[in-house]
Order: sequence, then C-alpha cells, then structure tokens
Amino acid sequence: MPRPEALLALVAAPALLALTLVISGPWRLTDAPLPPSLMQELERREMDLSRLAASARASAFSSPPLGRAVTSEALGCAELSGVTGVRLVGSGITKLVLRAALPLSGGEVALKSVHTTGGDVSRCVQRYGHPRGCYRLAAYKLLKEMVFLQSLEHPGIIKLQGQCYNPSFDPEMKVVTILELGTPLEMIQLLQTPWEERFKVCLDLVELLHYLANSPLGSVALLDFQPRQFVMVNGLLKVTDMDDVSTEELPCKGDEDCTLEFPTKTFSLKCTAHGKCEGINEKRNLFNAYRYFFTYLLPHTAPFVLQPILKEILNATGDLRYGANETLRAFQKVLHLYKAGLYLQKKSSHLKEYIALKGFHTTGVEDYKCWPSYSHLGCMLSVHSAEEAATICNAHPQCQHFIITLQTTWTGRPLALFQSNLTDLIPGGDNMVYVKPSATSWASL
Ligand SMILES: Nc1ncnc2c1ncn2[C@@H]1O[C@H](COP(=O)(O)OP(=O)(O)OP(=O)(O)O)[C@@H](O)[C@H]1O
Ligand SMILES: *[C@@H]1O[C@H](CO)[C@@H](O)[C@H](O)[C@H]1NC(C)=O
Ligand SMILES: *[C@@H]1O[C@H](CO)[C@@H](O)[C@H](O)[C@H]1NC(C)=O
Ligand SMILES: *[C@@H]1O[C@H](CO)[C@@H](O)[C@H](O)[C@H]1NC(C)=O
Repeated sequence: MPRPEALLALVAAPALLALTLVISGPWRLTDAPLPPSLMQELERREMDLSRLAASARASAFSSPPLGRAVTSEALGCAELSGVTGVRLVGSGITKLVLRAALPLSGGEVALKSVHTTGGDVSRCVQRYGHPRGCYRLAAYKLLKEMVFLQSLEHPGIIKLQGQCYNPSFDPEMKVVTILELGTPLEMIQLLQTPWEERFKVCLDLVELLHYLANSPLGSVALLDFQPRQFVMVNGLLKVTDMDDVSTEELPCKGDEDCTLEFPTKTFSLKCTAHGKCEGINEKRNLFNAYRYFFTYLLPHTAPFVLQPILKEILNATGDLRYGANETLRAFQKVLHLYKAGLYLQKKSSHLKEYIALKGFHTTGVEDYKCWPSYSHLGCMLSVHSAEEAATICNAHPQCQHFIITLQTTWTGRPLALFQSNLTDLIPGGDNMVYVKPSATSWASL
C-alpha cells in the first residue's frame, strides 16, 4: 500500500476538467504492449463507460433538476494538493479510501482512488502481468462510480464533491474522487442501539431504494449489496460503493429466462413484452435489503403493537410481494404510528400518581442501567410522553423518578432519564421531574 503522501503526489495534476472530456474520445494506450485479452477488457469497459455517460448526459438534459454536472465550486486537483491530516479510512477489493482535511476550510473529505495492492488489481496482474493496464482497468470502475454519483442525487447517496483527473495531462489515468466523509456502518454496534435508531437505518435504506427504482437513469440495481457498501453521515445512511451497479433490466425471451437467484431463495419473474425481466433490479435490491438489513434490524425490541406490522413488512419483502413503493408506504405508516404514540396500549394511567416538580436536573452521575439506553451512564430511553415514561418507571423496580429532558431523537420524541437515587437531583434548569409516590425521602428535595 502506498503511503498517503505518495499517493497524493501522484495525483496532484494542475487542472480540473469536466467529465465530458474524460469520455469524449476513445484514447488508446501508448505505452508497453498489452496482452490482447486485457486490451479487449479495457475496450469493453471504455465502451461501457461512454454508454453510461451518454445516458447520464441525456437524462441530465431531459430533467435538469436531477442531473448534476460538475459545478465551478467542485473541488479538484488544486485543493487535493493542499490537504492535510491524510489517514486511511477503508479499503475494498478495488478502491482505497483516505480521509483528509481541505486547505482553508479544514473540512474533512473522503478521497477514493484505485487500490493498487487490492484484490482486483493483484488478480489482474497475476493473470496478465501488466500492472499499468490492470491499474487502468480498475480506474474505469472508479470513473463509472463517478458518473453514477454525478447523475444521481439523493440524501441516501454519498455526495461527490469533486475529482482530480485530467485525461489529456494524465496518461497514467490517476483518478481521485472527492466525497463527503462518512463512518463505515458497524452492524454489530447497530444491533445494540435502540429500535428507533435501527428503524431509521432501514427507513433511510427504503427511501434510497425507492429513489433507485424510479431514478433518472431508470431502475438501478446495486449488484454488490452489503452493509460494507454503506456509511453513515450525520445520522443518515448513504451508499458509497457505486461501481457495481446496473441500469439495465435483464433481457429475456420468456419467463424462464427471468430467475432471480439468492443463496437461500430463487424467484421466478415475468418477461415483459419489451423483452425485459419485469422489475428485476428493484426486486434484487429489495430482497438484499430484507436479508442484510431488515431481518437483523427491524423486529427486535420493537414496540409491541408495531410488531405485527413489522412482521408483515418482513414477510412481504422476504417473499418479494412488495415493490419499492409499497415498502416505502409501509415504513411511512410505521413511522406515523410510532410518532403519534398510537402504538401505546391504552391502560390505566400511572402518571397521576407521580409528583411532578419543575426545575431540577441531574448531577450526571451513574445510576441504574437499562437496555438499550441512549446513555452509558444510566437508563435513558425515548418516550412519547410523560405518561409512557410513568409506565416504564413503574415497570422498573429500581426506578424512583424520571426526568423528561429537553433532548429529542430524530423522530422528535423526548429522551427520558430514569433514576433510582434521589440524591442525583439538584435544583436548576427547566426539566420536569416526576417522582414515584413510594420513593422515600422525596420531601427532602
Ligand atoms: N465516503 C466515505 N467515508 C468514509 N468511509 C468510506 C467512504 N467511502 C468508502 N468508505 C470505506 O472504504 C471502504 C471501501 O470503499 P468502497 O466500498 O468504495 O471500495 P471497493 O473496493 O469497491 O469495496 P468492495 O470490495 O466492498 O467492493 C468501504 O467499505 C467503507 O468502509
Ligand atoms: C410469509 O408468510 C407465509 C404464510 O405464513 C409463509 O409461508 C412464508 O414462508 C413467509 N415468508 C417469509 C419470507 O417469512
Ligand atoms: C412508484 O412511485 C413513483 C413516484 O413516487 C411513481 O412514479 C411510480 O410510477 C410508482 N411505481 C409503481 C410501480 O407504482
Ligand atoms: C446515591 O447517591 C449518593 C451521592 O451521589 C451516594 O453517596 C449514594 O451511595 C447513592 N446511593 C445509592 C443507593 O446508589
């Protein structure tokens, strides 16, 4: 693996050109002779890229608000040569990802380049013995990803902030794309977060799949769909790996050509009159969302009343009965029920037994824990109302009082802190504190 500084030195070319130049004319390799099969592969990728870029330009033309060109504010080689604090954040088979701080603003970005010691290039070198040709082969993937990121715009797709690549000055095809920086998705960590946060990740994903199914480039399938293709940026899930995507629906002569295969399941789809497998891209995405995300993130510790609806979503996506539109609608329904507190079972009220006091806050010391808590110091949960908090406090033997804090979650629900030790409370602030009537010595407050 090259040192980050060495990598940057390689790519710091003087000018930034629009992508149109990249693919405007077929260029040919001028250096060492290439094995014919590698040459063919390179030509195939080049054609593939020009076709994609042409359709991206066409879609940008027909629907200007959606097409996104490289604008004058886009970052380029000049900014890249001045970055500091370069560190590795991730790598895959094809690409190496560094983080770096921009000159002037100091804002951090992710820099993607070809992973010269990654599996893609190494396997190619083993086969063809031509490192430069193999580098170029991989660089096409990066360029393809760049075209997708330029043509698609959605909060669930990582934002392309610029690029450094100049085909006329750069026969080596050193490509660097500059992206917003995220943090890799940690599935294990995510499994330990409250249901509301896991639901958010699934909802973000469904919104992305809905966009991809109806995108300006047609229905887009993520062929390599795994949690490691996603990152989190400011609490939003975003796809970052877009080099292996398809905008073509599989061509067919009859229904028998349209099977969608997964390790655990095979689906038979219809062949349309136009000779395409109907909805195959959208369905592939949905089943992958089901098997990699929904099954793990959606059901556990969901509010009791929402569980049948979530089960129905799992069943419908797992059997591909829902398309992207229906799935999104079902998720929005769950969100609505959750936000409105309609999942709460109407039981007798507990709150009226509590003594409400305004103007206390907690010392922030450790108290009893619960799972899954929003705070590692104690038991902090998102609640719909003080009424729901009272029900929770009643169900926790340790709970003697709770505070409705001014902090809220992404759904706008307040966080409530449940505590056992009244000495944790001190006067001051605007929070409401509710004290269990049985709590001893509350009068000492
Ligand atoms: N914008 C970003 N911010 C932070 N980390 C990122 C970003 N983009 C990618 N990464 C990290 O770098 C890794 C490699 O990036 P990417 O998936 O694009 O490369 P790849 O070679 O195509 O990977 P794969 O082998 O999974 O196909 C990702 O798994 C992710 O953890
Ligand atoms: C959906 O429910 C039906 C009927 O109960 C069942 O046969 C099927 O296996 C379920 N599918 C999934 C993916 O859970
Ligand atoms: C899904 O919704 C989009 C608009 O959000 C619409 O354009 C499209 O036709 C719908 N698709 C189906 C299959 O209903
Ligand atoms: C309650 O808090 C006080 C002061 O922080 C501490 O001395 C006491 O041990 C705590 N009691 C319990 C039961 O945790």
